[in-house]
Amino acid sequence: MKLKGLVLAGGEGTRLRPFTLSLPKHLIPLLGKAMIEYPIQHLVDSGIQDIGIIVGYLGHLIKEYLGDGSRYGAKFTYIKQEHRLGIAHAIHLAIENEFLNGPFVVYLGDNILAHGIEKFVRKFIDEQPDVYIMLCKVKDPSRFGVAILKEGRIVKLVEKPKEFISNMAMIGIYFFRDPELVEKAFSTLRPSWRGEYEITELIQWFIDHGYRVEYDIVRGWWKDVGTPEGLLEALYLLLDSIPARIEGEIQGEVMGRAIVEKGAIVKGKVYGPAYIGKGAVVSKDAVVEHYVSIEANSRILSGSITRSLILDNVTVDINGLRLIDSVIGRYSTIKCNKEIHGEMRLAVSDYSYVGL
Ligand code: G1P
Repeated sequence: MKLKGLVLAGGEGTRLRPFTLSLPKHLIPLLGKAMIEYPIQHLVDSGIQDIGIIVGYLGHLIKEYLGDGSRYGAKFTYIKQEHRLGIAHAIHLAIENEFLNGPFVVYLGDNILAHGIEKFVRKFIDEQPDVYIMLCKVKDPSRFGVAILKEGRIVKLVEKPKEFISNMAMIGIYFFRDPELVEKAFSTLRPSWRGEYEITELIQWFIDHGYRVEYDIVRGWWKDVGTPEGLLEALYLLLDSIPARIEGEIQGEVMGRAIVEKGAIVKGKVYGPAYIGKGAVVSKDAVVEHYVSIEANSRILSGSITRSLILDNVTVDINGLRLIDSVIGRYSTIKCNKEIHGEMRLAVSDYSYVGL
């Protein structure tokens, strides 16, 4: 059985504004890789090379960045979703335009999983259920689609339940065996209260019509990145799972587990876990301390940074100040004079200037 992949990257990322005003959220870099490259890598690592990518909002930037797929050892087909009509609709589009014509796996482009999907791909191919989904126990089920289980089977799927019915969230990875059945299910759907054709309702059709809908529970972490806090949490989890690698130049000190990419220069101090991207500079008077990512070509000229994501081409020159729990957008500058001391928390969009 040969599987195709479908990665969804059409959303506007409204909860991630201002960062998504100039960049689709799927291209926000985390440890030197755009968010969408994690799902893509997981698909390719599982032997899936024929990958469709659903684009919409700022889709041309996604196409420009990812190209034809050859860089990943894959082949990409771009499919445009003009209106944000939901996950089930995006799948329907990919079937309608004949990209999906056999078994396939859908992977939401803003979902990141600790251990990839190879194990699930193998199980799907071996057992060939009609639908196969992954569940993960969560603290805030009202944010997700959830599954009610009874005697080891899924009996009901509900999108964003208002009252507690289950803490088993559906993660953004869905396997389907037969696109014709998916189309049959889709033809029965109507847009939900949020104007979307819901993936929960699509799969509920398979349950209600007696098809084999299997699930597995994901161990290890899973993150769907929707908000700046979610972005930082994904960063912390990713930083916890990386092996140390020093390929840049260390003239100062690096303590603990860190990645320092080729072309990066550390003249000050870096305390891991931390990531210092290609061409980035940590100057003599700068301290990067714990759960920080400095993406490519950013320069930390002075000050301290903790638990923060500094996107690419940023300049930080803040002397006695400490930046904490912050996200700084691309090509921005944060500057403070020497008299100011203390902590600050910032969410600054791309191409901005903050002077104190
Ligand atoms: C979507 C799905 C939901 C799923 C979630 C996982 O939610 O509709 O069922 O649990 O992805 O990331 P949305 O991102 O549209 O809020």
